[in-house]
Amino acid sequence: MSTIAELFAARVPRYTSYPTAPHFHSGISADVYRRWLEELDPAEPLSLYVHIPFCDTLCWFCGCHTTVVNHYSPVTSYLELLLEEIELVARILSPGRPVSHIHWGGGSPTLLNPADIRRLDDAVRRNYSIAKDVEFGIEIDPRGFARPLAETLAAIGVTRASIGVQDCDPVVQRAINRIQAIETTANAVELLRSVGIARLNVDLIYGLPHQTIAGIERTADAVLPLQPDRFAIFGYAHVPSFKKHQALIPESALPGIEERFAQAEAAHARLCAHGYEPVGIDHYAKPDDPMAIALRAGRLARNFQGYTTDKASALIGLGASSIGSAPQGYVQNITDVPGYRAALASGRLPVARGVALTAEDRARRAVIERLMCDLVVDLDDVAAFYGIKRSNFDDALRSLDGLQDLGVVTVDRARIVVDARWRAATRLVCAAFDGYLNNGVGRHALAV
Ligand SMILES: C[S@@+](CC[C@H](N)C(=O)[O-])C[C@H]1O[C@@H](n2cnc3c(N)ncnc32)[C@H](O)[C@@H]1O
Ligand code: SF4
Repeated sequence: MSTIAELFAARVPRYTSYPTAPHFHSGISADVYRRWLEELDPAEPLSLYVHIPFCDTLCWFCGCHTTVVNHYSPVTSYLELLLEEIELVARILSPGRPVSHIHWGGGSPTLLNPADIRRLDDAVRRNYSIAKDVEFGIEIDPRGFARPLAETLAAIGVTRASIGVQDCDPVVQRAINRIQAIETTANAVELLRSVGIARLNVDLIYGLPHQTIAGIERTADAVLPLQPDRFAIFGYAHVPSFKKHQALIPESALPGIEERFAQAEAAHARLCAHGYEPVGIDHYAKPDDPMAIALRAGRLARNFQGYTTDKASALIGLGASSIGSAPQGYVQNITDVPGYRAALASGRLPVARGVALTAEDRARRAVIERLMCDLVVDLDDVAAFYGIKRSNFDDALRSLDGLQDLGVVTVDRARIVVDARWRAATRLVCAAFDGYLNNGVGRHALAV
């Protein structure tokens, strides 16, 4: 029988999509994506994701698609491209399509100056019909966040802000090159609330260099008085072969696998003791937050931003590196800005790769999504819904033996249940259903 450490040493995807991004390929071209867009039902509301790939300074742990800029001119010229892409996609879709969700992510969208934030929002509103009750989320770097920016975000209708904190311990902060006093975070929270942006999320990370259980508890205790509606507590994904700057973090300073698991548990206990409900593997929400409500109703979903209450069947990714999803499959834009610019200059959608979904993919995606959201799935229900045989999952079930022996998961005929105490290990259970995982493609982080 394998030990916990052996099992958790596996490297598995975060399952923000299935198939996962390493399995996207260049066969999904701009022409294919154009056809997918043309086939979308014009009455169905869309979700928009806008990517701003710039930051002021580089956090050494960062796994996002971003570049550090020392002056503003690259941001200005990128914004021109983004506006072009917004127009191009809207022309293909036909202008005025309904939009129910907007998310600006990065990088740091708060690097945009107020005038550019308005230009970007104007372009979106000129080309789409934004629902009155739109959920409009934005990622905020609290460092340097000031009142004019907060007022601009309120004026353009932002309803939810995700605030990056990570860890409050000065030793950890130095080791990740991200110095952020708790007062800086508290100031951002106060500014957002004062302008009426009341729905707040806080991002924390465990598994960072020099992090300890006691330190994580202190971080939770420092942030809890700010009373955000949600927390995300991500496991640090250390993949220096892919994100070269992560090599600045010495591996000897990283907590081991069992320590990582204990850190996730400590954060979990602290937040639950203060009334937050666990959502999926790494989110926590107040019981009256829409995410907790969606979870209880079995309506929670997963997309590239993690967990979501977004029900739109198509998510349009805008900006370099952004990923979109349509009923037909996934697409990712060109990551490097010069390539993104060249595609737009020739009037093409800036698509780099993607994947079309097969019937088998859809069924496996549903199993993985339910496990990631609910920690429970009934394979008979999924097989019946997608018209495949339940026996297609027999190999997956056999590969769960080790996790069953450890009590991570129970299998009762077609019903798979992840033990809630092992929620941080859910991705290992999902990996058993991943039909692409063992073909050698991809560089993933640790399972916990
Ligand atoms: C785009 S950033 C948030 C906004 C802003 N850039 C900031 O850092 O304040 C998104 C979040 O991803 C998480 N993240 C980034 N790199 C990560 C990594 N290597 N492993 C785990 N989480 C990571 C962090 O919690 C971060 O707050
Ligand atoms: S964590 Fe946020 S601020 Fe830091 S480099 Fe990544 S995107 Fe930029």
